[in-house]
Amino acid sequence: MNHEPQPNNASDAPRNCSCKSGSECCQSPEPPRRGFLFAFGAVMMTLGGAVASVPVLGYLFGGATRRYKTEWVDLGPLEQFPAGETRFATFITPISSPNDGATAKTACWVRCIKSGKFQVFAINCAHLGCPVRWFEQSKLFLCPCHGGVYYQDGSRASGPPPRGLFEYPWKVTDGHLAIDAGMLPGLQETAYFPEASA
Ligand code: FES
Repeated sequence: MNHEPQPNNASDAPRNCSCKSGSECCQSPEPPRRGFLFAFGAVMMTLGGAVASVPVLGYLFGGATRRYKTEWVDLGPLEQFPAGETRFATFITPISSPNDGATAKTACWVRCIKSGKFQVFAINCAHLGCPVRWFEQSKLFLCPCHGGVYYQDGSRASGPPPRGLFEYPWKVTDGHLAIDAGMLPGLQETAYFPEASA
């Protein structure tokens, strides 16, 4: 037996209801404002969730889509690199944009061991990245920042660098020396690919 009180006169009808008690409109107690707030909250939560998921999705899938842009860059005709000498060379890095201006210019050291055989060193010290300088008299690369020293073949001689200079893959095409540039060398990612310069 149901003992629930039933609205049996106008005073028992929900507020804001102008109809007679027991009529159909009084059976839906949901005011329109509550429905609107619910829908608004649902939309805002969906938007917030979408925005919050962007960094998570970037973390999950960013590695799969990231690509180093490496490409062969011309360093100039072979006559610029005489056998037995180490020469300074510059190139425009492939990962630059038109707005980079002069900062897109990157340097390297080209060692011509003998005709047709080269080593191309990244200019950055393997310690903390300062530009190293070649000294012909002592046949050494010296780093001005913390005193790192490298032999002419790029191997570490002394100081804080944990390894030798990074090298770029190189090739000779139509009498010009080119390097596979673009990927900045780091301790985890060497720019040297022996098979490319073999
Ligand atoms: S950056 Fe070259 S020795 Fe530290």
